[in-house]
Amino acid sequence: MTSSDTHPAPATRAFPPGFAWGTATAAYQVEGAVAEDGRTPSIWDTFSHTPGRVTGGDTGDVADDHYHRFREDIAIMKDLGLTSYRFSVAWPRITPDVTPQTTGPVNAAGVAFYSTLVDELLAAGIEPAVTLYHWDLPQALEDAGGWASRATAERFAEYAGVVAGALGDRVRTFITLNEPWCSAYLGYASGVHAPGRTEPAAALAAVHHLNLAHGLGAAAVRRAAPGARVALTLNLAWVRTEGGGDADADAVRRVDGLQNRVFLDPVLTGRYPADVLADTASVTDWSFVRPGDLELVQQPLDALGVNYYSPTVVRAHDGSGPRARADGHGDSEHSPWIAAADVEFPELPGPRTDMGWSIDARGLRELLVRLHTEHPGLELVVTENGAAYPDVLVDGAVHDADRIAYLHDHLGAVLDAVEAGAPVTGYYLWSFLDNFEWAYGFSKRFGVVHVDYATQVRTPKDSAAWYAGVIAAHALGAPQAR
Ligand code: FCB
Repeated sequence: MTSSDTHPAPATRAFPPGFAWGTATAAYQVEGAVAEDGRTPSIWDTFSHTPGRVTGGDTGDVADDHYHRFREDIAIMKDLGLTSYRFSVAWPRITPDVTPQTTGPVNAAGVAFYSTLVDELLAAGIEPAVTLYHWDLPQALEDAGGWASRATAERFAEYAGVVAGALGDRVRTFITLNEPWCSAYLGYASGVHAPGRTEPAAALAAVHHLNLAHGLGAAAVRRAAPGARVALTLNLAWVRTEGGGDADADAVRRVDGLQNRVFLDPVLTGRYPADVLADTASVTDWSFVRPGDLELVQQPLDALGVNYYSPTVVRAHDGSGPRARADGHGDSEHSPWIAAADVEFPELPGPRTDMGWSIDARGLRELLVRLHTEHPGLELVVTENGAAYPDVLVDGAVHDADRIAYLHDHLGAVLDAVEAGAPVTGYYLWSFLDNFEWAYGFSKRFGVVHVDYATQVRTPKDSAAWYAGVIAAHALGAPQAR
């Protein structure tokens, strides 16, 4: 009898060759330096400086000071063995004087920052993946209507072309938008995100103008950088019900339409889902969709980015008692779910993260397999997945076993999807650093690297070491720290 008979090694499961190992961040959440080198305000500067909008009155003024500390941060990434880093470009650094009519001059200092960041990443052997819009809309565009206005999509395309022209010789992948669901519905319907408007018709106009921005932006990127790969990142919902009635099934259909199909269908098939147009007919006639728009929206896509954190469980509300609203999307009297007043979101039993989001890794597998089934051949990348926990730094260490368990289970779900045939080519953990978590400010920690906001000292958590071990092995073993 050998020792391996008595102590079998934990089963390890390998990832496909070439699978990309990343982490993700977004400009306003990490950079700081909001008034440096010609940057002008975005809607998140305005929103975070408005009393009552963000927990603790936190702002992204300094955030992780990544604008000045990116070299140190890249050294940590290299240490972890990351093969890719997904970051976003702040639009107000690139075309700070944009107006609805004109893009204005390109800010050389803003371009230079990202150009240096890209060079340093490449020198460290880390491939940059660039998100062009992660929610920091120039305030001047919001003042003229924001995403409810078509001009915003047109100016976005020009900005996208500028960035692709400047970085496209070194950056292979450009992601046009991050989670347009949040931009449209949290920004313009529930108002828990910037610009904080609560106008359902404007939110649906924003949905279309974001889809249009993706299409126009994708074409602009390809013109400026013909070799570039173009992707779009969506936060898709794994929607299900525990109720058995027709009304419960209809609640699933409604939420699937508003969250998934209203983005997937125009982008991938060139049409809006008829049921969503009908469901929302009392709010808008969708006349902001002009003839020819859908051809502009449906551009070839090199990969679809999928962000997944938590399952979505719905049921029909029968009108008796208050409507359960545990959708995980913040607290507002105004619902992000337009024309869905009879759909409710029950509290789920079981484990949750510090965001209150319930944990169910099956959803990631189900989403990836669904996308593969409905759109065979479409390359898929998990562009965000991770968890907030109330981490504490003790004696220079953060023992975040709960985050490791979450990541282990979700990476397992990615492998399940791959084994079911889904072409998933990479995984970007949210997030590299603890950072400004939008309306929650600095109260929620998603990083695998702890940040002390008073000193800006970075401390890799146990999860960082664990992730480094997964990357080094290119395989998933047991959920223990290295
Ligand atoms: C996603 C956002 C990202 C981060 C995570 C927790 O919706 O894209 O910026 O806030 O949630």
